[in-house]
Amino acid sequence: MFSTAFLDLPPLQGASGTVTLPGSKSISNRVLLLSALCQGTTVVHDLLDSDDTRVMLAALRQLGCGVQVDGTTVTITGLGGRTWPTEAIEFFMGNAGTAMRPLTAALAVQGGDFTLKGVPRMHERPIGDLVDALRELGCAIDYLGNEGYPPLHIGQPKLQLDKPIPVRGDVSSQFLTALLMALPLAAQDRAITIEVVGELISKPYIEITLNLLARYGIAVERQGWERFVIPAGSRYQSPGSIHVEADASSASYFIALGAIAQGSGIRIQGVGADSIQGDIRFMDAAAQMGAKITSGPNWLEIQRGAWPLKGITLDCNHIPDAAMTLAVMALYADGPTTLRNIASWRVKETDRIAAMATESRKLGATVEEGPDWITIHPLPSDKWQRASIHTYDDHRVAMCFSLAAFNADQVPVRIEDPKCVAKTFPDYFEALFSVAHTAAHNIPVICIDGPTASGKGTLASRVSAQLGYHYLDSGALYRVTAHAALQAGLTLETADEAAIAELARCLPVCFEGEQVLLNNVDVTDAIRSEQGGMNASKVSVLPAVRQALVDLQHSFQRLPGLLADGRDMGTVIFPEAPLKVFLTASAGQRAERRHKQLILKGFSANIDALRADLEARDARDTSRSVAPLKPAQDALQLDNSSLTIEASVEQVMVWWQSRQVFG
Ligand code: DC
Repeated sequence: MFSTAFLDLPPLQGASGTVTLPGSKSISNRVLLLSALCQGTTVVHDLLDSDDTRVMLAALRQLGCGVQVDGTTVTITGLGGRTWPTEAIEFFMGNAGTAMRPLTAALAVQGGDFTLKGVPRMHERPIGDLVDALRELGCAIDYLGNEGYPPLHIGQPKLQLDKPIPVRGDVSSQFLTALLMALPLAAQDRAITIEVVGELISKPYIEITLNLLARYGIAVERQGWERFVIPAGSRYQSPGSIHVEADASSASYFIALGAIAQGSGIRIQGVGADSIQGDIRFMDAAAQMGAKITSGPNWLEIQRGAWPLKGITLDCNHIPDAAMTLAVMALYADGPTTLRNIASWRVKETDRIAAMATESRKLGATVEEGPDWITIHPLPSDKWQRASIHTYDDHRVAMCFSLAAFNADQVPVRIEDPKCVAKTFPDYFEALFSVAHTAAHNIPVICIDGPTASGKGTLASRVSAQLGYHYLDSGALYRVTAHAALQAGLTLETADEAAIAELARCLPVCFEGEQVLLNNVDVTDAIRSEQGGMNASKVSVLPAVRQALVDLQHSFQRLPGLLADGRDMGTVIFPEAPLKVFLTASAGQRAERRHKQLILKGFSANIDALRADLEARDARDTSRSVAPLKPAQDALQLDNSSLTIEASVEQVMVWWQSRQVFG
């Protein structure tokens, strides 16, 4: 996940490949509970791993269900036909609403001696409407804290099922879902009717519930959106195995990506055209705008069709969330696009009509808006502006506007507060970067070169963390090469140059955070020693070795950008880098810093000896014939002898921002 203050998306040119989307939260917990209530074993594939599903799984284990977790596949042996627990059980529900509500209903209908608690916030989330409905049908539920809120105690019910059970539909559709999933437990010998009081909200979620119930053998009769009848003789039946669909709203960004980006197409794994989620109908709208879409069980493939896309006018009431993605597609169309019947946008995470209008205008677009509609005019080439997109703590605004990076003018797009995507799709940007591509010259590299112990590594890794960029510690590659050469019994001299270069060309090195692995063995400490630095300096003199490491270093230049530190990053490896810094500090300062580091790590060290070593290393690095240590012509010099690390980071950020001006 990117938790930086902003994320700069370089201009993107194409996209191809497969993305696997995370499972839908609402489907995951419904499937777990239904699997627990039926007889037999259900293999649940692609379960979402989240707080809510963990809470549900823990509760099911407490009830005596068989639960076997193997990655995202979970095997549930249901409670149907087995003895229901009679001992007192206390369940901890965390803050998991999608576990608390349906579990309360199922436990209350079946009865027992159960306590349900959660974190303090859970005890502030109302559950009164559900409890009222359950009490109405004879369930024994007591509030242990405040009336209308968890924690709850559940006892033995005296079910009265002859008259319809009223439940409010205008507060949360989760109450109705909870009843629909629990009442088949009591419908063996009679039909049970639920009556919705007030206008039912979030109907697509009820559709999901009904669809899943059908998969588990419960055919609920729906009479309009007011009455739901669970037929007499209903019994949960395991479907044997079931796939949790990926979230269809999350799929909209990749459907749009396939429609916008050049390339061999995007395959979305985890959700297909026959999805039970309402937002899947986004694909029809995308197709109307020009996307070419094919689908199979649990997958979609999207390719660019009409280009430019076609402007459309559409009533979006049935796909309110995914429709935001259409607003960004509209920038790439041949005429205006009007999205109608979207009043609900005004009361979501933010006023989404205002947000989409304001941010699209920043990109240069002409937008008109009304109380429940928005019209977006396409942005022709040479009209796109560099914009810093404010995201209003709204995951969908952030994800939508990432698609603006495919603009014809090849301007970058800044997304503020990118971590807001965590609400539904923590790794959204990683997924985007895994399929998006662009020319190397579009992927920014910031080079930090300088002598030994000048603090390049610390500076480069801090700046990379602030920008969300990759980090290349090129010195580590020379250190690992020297280490591997010595292990192979080679000397670090010209005599073995060809053999060392051969080793370097296919170096089995891997960086995991601070750790450096060679052949899957942790060599971090071995290569980080003073001797390791000296050895690196020796092999780095050999031209064939330097040449052998070029491709590996270039391979670090990946989206969204790179911080590279070393000796020749700016002069040889990334000569086109838009920012080059040459970092220096006096030899005395550097020796002192290194001394402190070593002492802190518990090594004994002598400042004078360290200083002599540093100077010897600098002399060799500066005087070698190939890629000697020297500032690139266009490098900015930074002497950090008397600067704190924070001040140096700040300086580099100021230089970078002055080259990356976003309107
Ligand atoms: O940055 P460092 O101390 O880890 O580098 C170790 C040695 O590797 C350094 O003395 C010279 C060599 N090196 C190089 O020649 N070119 C680079 N880009 C990085 C390091």
